[in-house]
Amino acid sequence: MAGTFISFEGIDGCGKSTQVKYIVSALKELGANCVCLREPGGTAISEKIRGLLLDPQNMEMRPEAELLLYEASRAQLVRQVIEPALAAGSIVLCDRYFDSTFAYQAAARGLDEDVVRTANELGSCGFVPDATIVFDLDVETALTRATRGGADRLEAEGVAFQRRVRDGYLRSAELESERIRLVDADGTPEQVFGRLVEALVPVLPVLASLDVKAFLSRQADLERAMADIALSLGEDA
Ligand code: TYD
Repeated sequence: MAGTFISFEGIDGCGKSTQVKYIVSALKELGANCVCLREPGGTAISEKIRGLLLDPQNMEMRPEAELLLYEASRAQLVRQVIEPALAAGSIVLCDRYFDSTFAYQAAARGLDEDVVRTANELGSCGFVPDATIVFDLDVETALTRATRGGADRLEAEGVAFQRRVRDGYLRSAELESERIRLVDADGTPEQVFGRLVEALVPVLPVLASLDVKAFLSRQADLERAMADIALSLGEDA
């Protein structure tokens, strides 16, 4: 495959989405051709499946059904978007991928690990990321961040569940230390971004030319300008 495939992982509230947003905008500034996706989702079918998975009313959903829905959403995304983008030479950045399934459905929910691995092979159609970043943060800090705007079905599972998710990630990182890199997610978004860029340079050499400080200051200007516009429109910033 001509492109580069990177996935981003971590427990709910680890700050992953902000970091993915930063890295996409940095890569765009550097002129790289990149596609940013999130799981579950990213195609019309996968977004519908996402709605089922995250709906707080679907409390009766059984773990096996949950597993298969994540895999169905993934298979559609891989075949419809990821495979062609990689073939065209793009950098594909995916907010969550099959390591989430291992951490959530096997380590946290308790489904058999080998069953989940086999399901992951099918759902990913054999596409393995070139590198995976796991943002690592203690569960209490992450959960406070994650539930500020109200909890979705998975976040509502609480501390013990998220602790098992984190353990699942740490175990995967130990087992696959070549592919999976841990990034300490404790600190300001700017500090974490510095660590992220450092971790990604070996697989995305274009990032070596990024001036992190200058980039972050442009980013802060942009966020201030957006907040001003929102205020002038009478919205909450
Ligand atoms: P989302 O709101 O996208 O969370 P985040 O911003 O933290 O990524 O919700 C995705 C939820 O789905 C999240 O709680 C993790 C969970 N999940 C699984 O349980 N298994 C999976 O295979 C994937 C991809 C996600």
